Amino acid sequence: MSGDTTTGIGIVGCGNIFERYVRGLGRFPELRIVHVADVDSERARHGAGLVGPDTRHGTLDALLADDRVEIVVNITPPTVHAAVTEAALRAGRHVYVEKPITTDLDTAREQLALAKDLGLALGGAPDTFLGSAGQTARAVLDGGAIGDPVGATAFVTHSRAETWHPDPTFLFKPGGGPVLDLGPYYVTQLVNCLGPVAEVYGRSRVGAPVRTVTAPGRTVDTIGVEVDTHAAAVLAFASGVLAGTTLSFDVWDHQLPFIEIYGTRGTLSIPDPNMYDGDVKVRLHGEDAWTTAAPVVPVQGPADSFEHQLLRGPGVADLAASLRGAPHRASAPLALHVLEVLDAIGASGRAGAPIAMTSTCERPAVR
Ligand SMILES: NC(=O)c1ccc[n+]([C@@H]2O[C@H](COP(=O)([O-])OP(=O)(O)OC[C@H]3O[C@@H](n4cnc5c(N)ncnc54)[C@H](O)[C@@H]3O)[C@@H](O)[C@H]2O)c1
Repeated sequence: MSGDTTTGIGIVGCGNIFERYVRGLGRFPELRIVHVADVDSERARHGAGLVGPDTRHGTLDALLADDRVEIVVNITPPTVHAAVTEAALRAGRHVYVEKPITTDLDTAREQLALAKDLGLALGGAPDTFLGSAGQTARAVLDGGAIGDPVGATAFVTHSRAETWHPDPTFLFKPGGGPVLDLGPYYVTQLVNCLGPVAEVYGRSRVGAPVRTVTAPGRTVDTIGVEVDTHAAAVLAFASGVLAGTTLSFDVWDHQLPFIEIYGTRGTLSIPDPNMYDGDVKVRLHGEDAWTTAAPVVPVQGPADSFEHQLLRGPGVADLAASLRGAPHRASAPLALHVLEVLDAIGASGRAGAPIAMTSTCERPAVR
C-alpha cells in the first residue's frame, strides 16, 4: 500500500470520462492516482501521461499486482463493470465503479455479497447528489419547508450523446439506454431526498431503430439500437410519495423541469442531477415567486460550467473517507437499490404489472 498518508488510486478504463476523473480527483490531496490500466495499451500510456510522469500504466493484472493501489476506480463501459469489479475485489481492493454498478441485478447482488465477505468497501456512481444541489434539496426537505412530500416528477431527456461522444455505441446496447445511463442520476437524487422505492409501474419502447452519430472525430457513423430509448414510469416510494418519470433519448426538445417534489406546503425544484451544483428553488403555496435556497455545502463551480460540473471524484473521496470511519454515502446498497428500481421499469412493462422492490436502503447520511 502507499507509503505515505495518501490513498493510492488505480483507474481502470482510460476512455472519454477518464480525464475528468484525473482532474477531479486531483482536487483531493488525500487521494493519489498511482496506476492506470486499459485493454488498449496506447490509451493507458496516454492516460498515465495525463496524470503525471511517475504514473504506471498497463493491464488490469499489472494494476492489481501494484500494492500501492488501495482503491480501484472502475470506469470501463457498463458491460465490463462486473468483470473488473470482481477481479479487483478478489485481489483485495476496495472498488468505486461508474454507473450502473452492473448491467444485471443478480450480478450486482453477488458483488455486494462478495465485498461484504471480503471486508472490502464497494461504492458507485452517481455521486452528484453529494454536491451542493443534492445536499441543499435534502436540507430543505428535512427542514420541513414544503411540508410532507406527496408527489414528485423527474424528466430524463436527451443527452445528445450522438453529437459529442466519438463512439456512443454502448449507450444503445444492453446496459445503456436512458434508463440505465441517465436514470441513475435522477433516481439516486430522488432516493437521497425521499428514501427507498417500494414499487415500480413502467413501460418502455425503442424510438428510432438506428441512430446517426454526428460527433466531431466520430469513430462510428450509425448505431443499431438494442435497448429501449423511451420509458415512462410511476415510482411508489415506501414513504407513500408517488413520482412520475419519463426517461428518454427520444425527447430532443421540451420545456420540462429536471426534478420537482410537491409537498403539502409547497414545491421544491431540483436542478439537473447530472451536475453537482445549481439553483434549488422553493415556492410555498400562495407565494408568487420562487426563492433560491442558499447552498448548504460549498459549490464545485458555476452551475452552467461543464468544465466544473463534469469533474468527477467526490464519490471516490467519500469511499476513502468511509475507510477512516465516515458514513459511506455513494454506497453499493444505494447503487443496487437504484439499479433495481431502473431494472423494474422495463420488467414492469414486459410483465404488464407493477414490480415490488426486494432491496431497500437508508437515505444517504448527511455530513
Ligand atoms: N463519458 C461520459 O461523459 C460519462 C459520464 C459519466 C459517467 N460515465 C460512465 O463512465 C464509464 C466509462 O464511460 P466512457 O464514456 O469513458 O467510455 P469509453 O468507452 O470512452 O471508455 C472506456 C474505456 O475502458 C476501456 N476498457 C474496456 N474494457 C476494459 C477492460 N476489460 N479492462 C480495462 N479497460 C477496458 C476501453 O478501452 C476504453 O478506453 C461508463 O460506465 C459510463 O456510463 C461516462
